[in-house]
Amino acid sequence: MNISINAAEPFGYQTPLLALATWEGETLPEAIAPLIEAGDWTGKAKQSLVIYPRGAVAASRVLLVGLGPKAAVTSEKLRVAAATAATRAREIGVDSFALALAEGGPIGPRAAGQALAEGATLALYRFDTYRTGLSPEQTRSIESLTILAPSDTDEVSAGAAVGQAIAAGTSFARDLINHPGNVVVPAKLGETALDLGKEFGFKVTVLDKAQLEAQGFGGIIGVGKGSANEPRFITIEYGSKQPGVPTICLVGKGITFDTGGISIKPGERMQEMISDMSGAAAVLGTLRVIGALKLPLHIVGLISTAENMPSSTAYKPGDILTTLSGKTIEVLNTDAEGRIVLADALYYAQRYEPDAIIDLATLTGAIVVALGTYVSGMMTNSDSLADRLSRAGQETHERVWRMPLWEEYLDQTRSEVADLKNTGGRPGGALTAAAFLSQFVGEYPWAHLDIAGTAYSERAMGPYTPRGGAGVGVRLLTQMLVDWAGGDA
Ligand code: BES
Ligand code: MN
Ligand code: ZN
Repeated sequence: MNISINAAEPFGYQTPLLALATWEGETLPEAIAPLIEAGDWTGKAKQSLVIYPRGAVAASRVLLVGLGPKAAVTSEKLRVAAATAATRAREIGVDSFALALAEGGPIGPRAAGQALAEGATLALYRFDTYRTGLSPEQTRSIESLTILAPSDTDEVSAGAAVGQAIAAGTSFARDLINHPGNVVVPAKLGETALDLGKEFGFKVTVLDKAQLEAQGFGGIIGVGKGSANEPRFITIEYGSKQPGVPTICLVGKGITFDTGGISIKPGERMQEMISDMSGAAAVLGTLRVIGALKLPLHIVGLISTAENMPSSTAYKPGDILTTLSGKTIEVLNTDAEGRIVLADALYYAQRYEPDAIIDLATLTGAIVVALGTYVSGMMTNSDSLADRLSRAGQETHERVWRMPLWEEYLDQTRSEVADLKNTGGRPGGALTAAAFLSQFVGEYPWAHLDIAGTAYSERAMGPYTPRGGAGVGVRLLTQMLVDWAGGDA
């Protein structure tokens, strides 16, 4: 969908559909108030109403979208309103629509432009690559959205451009997650990174199995051994280390399919494990946005990718793996594979002497039990990183909730026969997984985001999050990086 900004007055603007986002309790503009039965419109959040003005205004249809009380309007309410408008527009079947926001609300024009572009674009996301014979109704799409901004037009426009870049990065991550496991194999993630490198000028390296073996990536090799789709380790670098420019490593779990391996998972819902590379998708999607926004930062994406399969060559319970760090891991359960591949990537991150390491991983079922599906778990050794991520989480509504990373949990990671064991039993499963990871980051500021509950859902998770991969992490990380770089993108 093409998005443009226009300074026209909404009621004089000719369009098949004019969506008006309005506050609760505001009197409606004179042009349309007489067309609405008294009491039918309140402006409460999530309320929407289509009216046919029949010449009273230039638009053929007017869609009112409620924002709730003016003082309580947030960027999230604007995203949701834009999502509602875009979804209704597509249902109605128009191929273009206009969107106008009542003026004078608490959100500045730039942030408003960004939120509207994000909400509308993300709501219309669809993944139909593998469906044939769809009806015209099912393939209906909206060609263009015009955001009407009679004042602060340039600011709204700048914000909308950022919103579009962020939505594109999120959709890119969603696509990677939604493509099935027989298509997105580790080599495919490697090619995707190389393609991004060409498009945006990133420095990309993809290590193959022989190189991983030669260089001692024993964690990734161990997990990937059971599959004919060989593992990879991907580095994708934006900017370069310069004085005064922070270096931030973004680490992603890229298990392209998680059967559990020899400790095989139950069959029910196993198909959802195509999403076990959502951390990797978030890292690639974020780099895509950063490449478009050109932030003054040094960002290194690191992705461990493998397929976790049972076979005669697979790793087994009882095996002991020697990771890149030299630390050894006793495998108790081959389904706790994420922490093993991340061990190599987190250790590798230290060579960049980063100001922060942030990993994203669909790591544990335990985090889903603890927090459900609307918030990601955050474990970190740094209060300032916790603040940065929490603030970005509030702003983007990709919320994170800090969970403890206390040294007592390390006890559950100690093995009798190796340095660590890969499971610590059921109590505090998400916390002991984080404690495990903490042993590979040295003293660097580090945050682990467990996105197992937020990355994927077989039903829509919100007005702009359709079924499938959510692309969670892209908006969160981008916001945090924009803030870190000093504000406006
Ligand atoms: N990829 C799974 C975690 C997961 C669960 C992601 C549900 C998304 C939804 C991970 O590799 C896993 O299997 N974890 C095990 C660890 C256990 C064996 C210690 C788990 O959480 O059950
Ligand atoms: Mn697993
Ligand atoms: Zn997994």
